[in-house]
Amino acid sequence: MRYTTFGRRSGLRVSQYALGTGNFGTGWGAGAERDEAKKIFDRFVEAGGNFIDSADTYQAGQSEELLGEFIQADRDDLVLATKFTVGARPDRKLSRTGNSRKNLRTSVEESLQRLNTEYIDVLWVHYPDALTPVDELLRGLDDLVTQGKILYAAFSNFPAWRVSRAAALADLSGWAPVTGIQVEYSLVERTADRELLPMAEALGLGVTLWSPLGGGLLTGKYRQSHQGRLTDLKTLVHTESTDQKAAAVDAVLTIANEVGRPPAQVATAWVSERSRRLATSSVPIIGPRSLAQLDDYLGALELELSADQYDHLTQVSAVPLGIPHEANAASLNGLQGGVMARLDGPVVP
Ligand SMILES: NC(=O)c1ccc[n+]([C@@H]2O[C@H](COP(=O)([O-])OP(=O)(O)OC[C@H]3O[C@@H](n4cnc5c(N)ncnc54)[C@H](OP(=O)(O)O)[C@@H]3O)[C@@H](O)[C@H]2O)c1
Repeated sequence: MRYTTFGRRSGLRVSQYALGTGNFGTGWGAGAERDEAKKIFDRFVEAGGNFIDSADTYQAGQSEELLGEFIQADRDDLVLATKFTVGARPDRKLSRTGNSRKNLRTSVEESLQRLNTEYIDVLWVHYPDALTPVDELLRGLDDLVTQGKILYAAFSNFPAWRVSRAAALADLSGWAPVTGIQVEYSLVERTADRELLPMAEALGLGVTLWSPLGGGLLTGKYRQSHQGRLTDLKTLVHTESTDQKAAAVDAVLTIANEVGRPPAQVATAWVSERSRRLATSSVPIIGPRSLAQLDDYLGALELELSADQYDHLTQVSAVPLGIPHEANAASLNGLQGGVMARLDGPVVP
């Protein structure tokens, strides 16, 4: 396992994978029982992993509860991240949802109890709630940092303009900085290439990429009618709903055949390589439901795709960047032949 800092805006040292624990527990009707979850956790830590990703809502609070037990042996060596917005309890009332200061405070208190710890390393705001003013959220996060209940604040699933504005406001106001983003990213979901990843590169935000296998689609197992999240949970997984997604699965299966490795390793190796090529630190969040699945994710650490294989997967899965990027690229190309060709300087993403 290799390590990186959590972006350029923090000195926090994290492993090159974060262990996603959305499968820890069975509160959603599909996931890993306690003993399997413990084995996954232990093997991840033995392999050198230190970055753990949870949320209050995962498996209706069970993910955090199980972690509260598992982390005790090594709490301070682990970088424990969790999220708030949605709430753990399925029967939550109105004031226990969203990003208000009230829900922030109560959610963090409850997460600390379930996690059986005095502090959370990284608190993710799980989703924008479309209501809470950003300064209310930032002030609330800053208070929690001051109180030592959280160490770093970060944003998950927010549009780039909201993150960027929040980061600027926090910086100008002297509040705890926005240190990272969490976003879905895989060979079947690359729209973060348009705004979110360039923003993270420019601002030095730490990036965590969720669903590196598209929820299981990129293992190719649904072509063989295997059971999995798609059949059991019927959500949180892509299907071959477009020609491009089917082409991405085709490409992964072909390369898996070429290199003699499981497709899951090929798809994860591509996300890891893409992460390494970003101009900020970025780690995939892996999501094993079993020890065997964890072994595939870990096996991908040893798999180096050839330049041709990486380029082919990148090209097959690419999304149009749209306006203004495409128009700007065209006009910059024109400028390169003129005055721009004589300008040396950093490229602003
Ligand atoms: N911020 C957010 O809103 C957000 C949203 C989603 C996830 N996340 C985070 O990201 C983590 C990972 O997301 P994800 O679970 O969707 O990741 P993923 O890697 O795209 O999908 C993981 C699923 O794929 C299947 N799988 C994995 N390895 C396999 C293998 N070798 N062979 C066959 N099937 C395999 C398993 O599902 P089955 O066995 O059930 O088929 C597993 O649960 C989560 O745990 C969570 O921490 C965050």
